[in-house]
Amino acid sequence: MENFAETYLKLSREDFSLLGAIEAGMKDHEWVPISEISQLSGLPLRKVEHRLEQLFELKLVTRETLHYDGFQMDFDAYDLLALSDFVKRNFVLSIGDRIGVGKEAVVNAAMGNGPLAIKFHRQGRASFKHVRRLRDHLTDLPRLPWLHAAALAARHEFEVMRKLYPAVAVPKPVALSRHALAMEMISGDQLGKVTVSNPQDCLDMILDDVRKTWGLGVVHADLSEFNILVAEGDEGPRIIDWPQAVDLAHPHAEELLTRDVSNVLRFFWRKYKIEMPLESALELVTGKEAEQV
Ligand SMILES: Nc1ncnc2c1ncn2[C@@H]1O[C@H](COP(=O)(O)OP(=O)(O)OP(=O)(O)O)[C@@H](O)[C@H]1O
Ligand SMILES: [Mg+2]
Repeated sequence: MENFAETYLKLSREDFSLLGAIEAGMKDHEWVPISEISQLSGLPLRKVEHRLEQLFELKLVTRETLHYDGFQMDFDAYDLLALSDFVKRNFVLSIGDRIGVGKEAVVNAAMGNGPLAIKFHRQGRASFKHVRRLRDHLTDLPRLPWLHAAALAARHEFEVMRKLYPAVAVPKPVALSRHALAMEMISGDQLGKVTVSNPQDCLDMILDDVRKTWGLGVVHADLSEFNILVAEGDEGPRIIDWPQAVDLAHPHAEELLTRDVSNVLRFFWRKYKIEMPLESALELVTGKEAEQV
């Protein structure tokens, strides 16, 4: 897909009905037969054929013609369906630039009731590619393991953020659709890329957030200078990227907490020469004596 916002604007209401029909049909079919797309969307076959041709040219659907005329969609089309759902539910009024492309997600700016960031999860894409190729022989596999993995990750991230906000400084979670999460946009940059004016205060605020997170029964489990955004102005740091968070019942919760805190301390030592022993930071965060942790 070329440009996300441009592609979105090119699509009509009928195109979205067709994508919705393919999405529904893909629960039962690897390739959704064109007759079923027509039935599910309530649009006449001739029109469906013509519209699908255009969606194919926009690279939003793929087609197989070996056994019968069938269609399938990939993450780009799901992104557009999730976006159109946010628009329908009045969470999003307009879509902006892509602001982050990672291994596990792509993030877009958007505007709703204030500036938003929409995170489209991509978990499972790489790891299930080979499964998709093998799928003909493995008929008992779920049809869309990659989408399923991404949707689960998005839901978990949304639920964790709702549990933490506003006690912990995380972006305000706004809405969830499929594998996409809309949240408050933080206008700032990753902690690792900026120089903060008062690093000691910044470290104290981060550790205090880790303490509150632990108090609410959660460990981030991927905390580092890459997943902390420093907001412009003096709003302080915000912790992002929560899909891998675990709760305290997790068998490795304390190890993961120790790793999170070490990552933060190592960064503040390397960049600002602020020294804080791991034991005292952990004591601060958990309220326990170090040897118990
Ligand atoms: N709420 C937000 N406000 C502003 N920017 C954001 C927000 N959420 C994410 N971003 C941007 O998108 C990037 C990726 O987001 P995130 O860390 O949640 O995903 P990821 O899966 O870890 O991607 P990566 O593999 O690049 O780390 C962030 O580093 C940040 O630049
Ligand atoms: Mg990240």
